[in-house]
Amino acid sequence: MVCFVAMSDDSQAAWQELAPDYERARTKEDSLDRLVEWPAQRDLLGDVTGRSVLDVGCGNGGKLAELVGDGATASVGIDVSGNFLSAPPPGSEFIRGDLSELDSVPGLAGRRFDRILFLQSFGYAKDPVRTLQAARAMLADDGFILLTRTQPIRYAVERTEQNGSSLGEEYFSTAQFSYLSGWNDQITLTKRPYTISDLINVFSAAGLWIETAIEPQLSEEARRRYPHKQAWMNKYLGILIFKLRPHPSH
Ligand SMILES: C[S@@+](CC[C@H](N)C(=O)[O-])C[C@H]1O[C@@H](n2cnc3c(N)ncnc32)[C@H](O)[C@@H]1O
Repeated sequence: MVCFVAMSDDSQAAWQELAPDYERARTKEDSLDRLVEWPAQRDLLGDVTGRSVLDVGCGNGGKLAELVGDGATASVGIDVSGNFLSAPPPGSEFIRGDLSELDSVPGLAGRRFDRILFLQSFGYAKDPVRTLQAARAMLADDGFILLTRTQPIRYAVERTEQNGSSLGEEYFSTAQFSYLSGWNDQITLTKRPYTISDLINVFSAAGLWIETAIEPQLSEEARRRYPHKQAWMNKYLGILIFKLRPHPSH
């Protein structure tokens, strides 16, 4: 078994190993990304015609490619794994880079974007406030950030199962914890716990306000078709999605 501390320098090494497994899992017919997360993320992005998009921690760039197919222009996907689609669609580029150093990624200097995405990637930032401040500085007028994170209660529930402890003990614990990545049972990721207040305080410290927050769920049809996924959601809740705008006074 390989152990990686996914929020530090080792996230690079972990994701080089994990990237193909993650993409394989994501494209499965019953993946929660396909059934719940991407539809909700896409919905909040709205019409992207003529909009520039920066997708931070873009994976292989498949979501960015879809947005470009829907009319986004001058767009960029960044990921530390470098496991990109073989060719970025016209009007986009992929850059291998670290989101912890977003303020100095070559190729981003002086650029502005209408939409900046952190889709299940923000947890890998070494200094979350610094990363969000860098993103905020790259927002065009009327731009917003779309950020998703796993519901922290999910990890707390898993730890109660492992440790025989209570939900409150685990949710408020500050000790790092390790868990199997779920995409490759040879790779264990280590995370720093967070609460919902922690997340909100990071947004405030970076000069952002929450315009919308949602907790997307399976559609009625998907519930009927994939009851094992509804059982998972009933236990682990899913993800949080935030639409963040710059606070004018910062
Ligand atoms: C759970 S995947 C999400 C991928 C994609 N955003 C999506 O929604 O399908 C997390 C992504 O974050 C990337 N990542 C992890 N650490 C990173 C870092 N330090 N800098 C940039 N990307 C990172 C990984 O390589 C991986 O592609």
